[in-house]
Amino acid sequence: MRDLLKGARVSKAKAAPVTRLHSRHLLGLEGVTAPELDLIFDTAETMVEVLDRPIKKVPPLRGMTVVNLFYESSTRTRFSFELAEKRLSADTVNFSASGSSVSKGESLVDTVKNIEAMKTDMVVIRHGSTGAPHKLAQEIESAVINAGDGQHEHPTQGLLDIFTLRRKYGKINGLVVTIVGDILHSRVARSNIWGLRTLGAEVRLCGPSTLMPIEIEKMGVKVFHGLDAALEGADVVNVLRIQKERQQGGLLPSLREYTLQWGVTKERLVGMNKNYTVMHPGPINRGVEITPEVADGPHSVILPQVTHGVAVRMAVLYLLAGGGERVAQQ
Ligand code: CP
Repeated sequence: MRDLLKGARVSKAKAAPVTRLHSRHLLGLEGVTAPELDLIFDTAETMVEVLDRPIKKVPPLRGMTVVNLFYESSTRTRFSFELAEKRLSADTVNFSASGSSVSKGESLVDTVKNIEAMKTDMVVIRHGSTGAPHKLAQEIESAVINAGDGQHEHPTQGLLDIFTLRRKYGKINGLVVTIVGDILHSRVARSNIWGLRTLGAEVRLCGPSTLMPIEIEKMGVKVFHGLDAALEGADVVNVLRIQKERQQGGLLPSLREYTLQWGVTKERLVGMNKNYTVMHPGPINRGVEITPEVADGPHSVILPQVTHGVAVRMAVLYLLAGGGERVAQQ
């Protein structure tokens, strides 16, 4: 990869035993193997180095056009993908459902087929409906990257969270990670669970029983019914946002009651392991699921998560675009 990224140092991490992803899409972390995750993270290490340069741009996606389709609001994911594409020299086109022909009744597949007819190459999609990226992947020619589908998965968020932990601890195997909050509606939780379990972490879930999916233990996680027990001896707490927009009546008694029982405060972290980490995918409801003191405290990696998101998305784009094979043809 050194030559392909024009001088970037290849990560010193253990050489990954695979050189490409088995799928030409990234629809979720379910089914992504440990060697594939290592390949993405090793590639992301190289991208971190690119992003530390004064000129943060390399040529691998030159000549390619990536379409960013956001049917739901986003700040981090949308900016992060667009920056990742630009850092790799792709051309980018941004689509928002509002102001498009979606308001005239055009379907998702028809919309994307029409955009693809203008000779675009890859599609990044965020959609409120579970399975929308999978449907697209069946219908179009381009590689599809899921940027969050309904309550299903948000694979690049899972990747950036795990990459952030790998950079801090050097490995994922053996870490104890507690995910707290609204598990039921959380695509972030699902992607984290798949990736963390594949790499050998212990995953604990806790939150109100009304926001805990039934039979979630089948994913290989432990469910806790109290925050203090879930945090005892944990290395990481990943605090989920209370998704006010997804709450249907009766799932939460009140935000005040949620905060009292499940809100992450400095006092509640005392049982965690010494070198503990606080994560949050954003956007944060300060004072609801996490106090500002914890969110901005010395153990928080919330902004490094965002920084790593660009490198991880560059790695995913690079690998799905053909990685070294494509660059070698340029
Ligand atoms: N973490 C995340 O998906 O944030 P956005 O909704 O701002 O993209």
